[in-house]
Amino acid sequence: MNRPDNQVIVIFGGRGDLAMRKIIPALYALQTQGLMPERYAVLATGRNSISDDTYRKDIEKSVISFSSEVDTSLVSDFTRAFRYLALNPAAADDYNRLSDAIMAVRSELRIGGNTLFYLAIPPELYEKIPRFLAFQGLNNQGDGCKRMIIEKPFGRDFTSAQNLNNILLGDWSEEQIYRIDHYLGKETVQNILVTRFSNGIFEPLWNRSFVNHVEITSSESIGVEKRGAFYEHTGAMRDMVQNHLLHLVGFIAMEPPSSIDSNSIRNELVKVFQSLRPINPAEVGRVTIRGQYTGSHIRGEWIAGYRDEEDVDPESVTETYAALQFYIDNWRWGGVPFYLRTGKRLPTRVTEAVIHFSPTPHRLFSAKTSCQGCNQLIIRIQPDEGILLKVGVKVPGAGFNVKNVNMDFHYSELTTDRIPEAYERLLYDCMNGDSTLYTRSDAVLAAWKFLDPVIEAWENDRSIPLYGYPAGTWGPERADELIMEPDLTWRYPCKNLSDDGVYCEL
Ligand code: BG6
Repeated sequence: MNRPDNQVIVIFGGRGDLAMRKIIPALYALQTQGLMPERYAVLATGRNSISDDTYRKDIEKSVISFSSEVDTSLVSDFTRAFRYLALNPAAADDYNRLSDAIMAVRSELRIGGNTLFYLAIPPELYEKIPRFLAFQGLNNQGDGCKRMIIEKPFGRDFTSAQNLNNILLGDWSEEQIYRIDHYLGKETVQNILVTRFSNGIFEPLWNRSFVNHVEITSSESIGVEKRGAFYEHTGAMRDMVQNHLLHLVGFIAMEPPSSIDSNSIRNELVKVFQSLRPINPAEVGRVTIRGQYTGSHIRGEWIAGYRDEEDVDPESVTETYAALQFYIDNWRWGGVPFYLRTGKRLPTRVTEAVIHFSPTPHRLFSAKTSCQGCNQLIIRIQPDEGILLKVGVKVPGAGFNVKNVNMDFHYSELTTDRIPEAYERLLYDCMNGDSTLYTRSDAVLAAWKFLDPVIEAWENDRSIPLYGYPAGTWGPERADELIMEPDLTWRYPCKNLSDDGVYCEL
């Protein structure tokens, strides 16, 4: 892989949680793999005045705490690329100093005009920062590329996302804007495309004739932690479904792109989103479930309920669990139900997609012993990344008893190397001007358009219940009824991909 061109990286929110936990460790990992530009500088901004040295010490701690592999002797060398600038991102006047600081570091290190701006700050500033940068001409590509990474959430509904888009596109072009969804940076999410489009055996079955239904789960065992203030205004639907989970749906459901270039892949993704059947507001109560975790003992330890978390309203109706059933109205998927669920404080951290193939047209073996719905392909995004295929085999002995067995592949068997973090791949791509794994504006808008009626109904229709579920359980029991197949419920995954049935480590 090539090194990106020389550039300056400006991080807004340089002392924030995201920078410390994800962005800086990702830059370090790229540096150790020789994937950073030959000459680069990182200009981190924050509101408080601190020296470069103090900031570099913070970075050292962040790299050591949040990297999976660290060579401590290399860390302080890495921090030399960092400079710190105190700046109020909401004050237009401060941007003169930012512009000066960028020019100074460029001439000191002989870096041309390529600049990457990373907005790792609360969404309230997404409208201001790009404008203020443009006032200084820092969007001008005459002397080199100017790119901007914007974190999610991009808007909080269709209208606000459209307004934000219009504001950004007033000064920046779509090619300069990189809307990040870190799920797209996950190796296992990209592997969905490889599994589907590099194997001749799956694609012929990947449609309404052979697939009975598709199930996607993203469960987290953690609660909202210190993010109560953010989460109160977000909820599971906006935090996880609108972006991460719909992207998984897009990769599972898309048509083969004509090539793997950015536009071809993103065109197919957006077509899936545009084919999502709108959910009628009157149907929201039937096809969606929302829940909120309540206090409970998990393995002997008392875990607080959502309403008792820091910065959460004691009467909050924000959902920490969301499940929905929907359809994709196109030739491939017409009539196939899709089910999504996500939640915090569920029993374990697992993200996976399950393709349930249709049962055989004729039951040759007795219904009691043959396994209805036993052919499943499980694509595990995390943890124990891999793929599991469930097939029926004969139980040795008299008669024809059928047993469901697992054929499994685990990434840990493919390589002993660590799987790169999503942010590494995404930062590397952006530095190289590759937007394939970033979200295009039409996809963001189509995703909001699909979910707006659900969110509106949840906010305004009091007849739609908000179910409580004890922390450490799989969410509201009512969610089992969403699955329309007789005798089938959700798959209840374990930490390890192929542990199911007898033993299940959570
Ligand atoms: C973030 C959400 O985008 O994704 C968090 O804001 C969530 O609430 C996180 O915990 C989950 O990411 P991952 O990579 O741990 O599945």
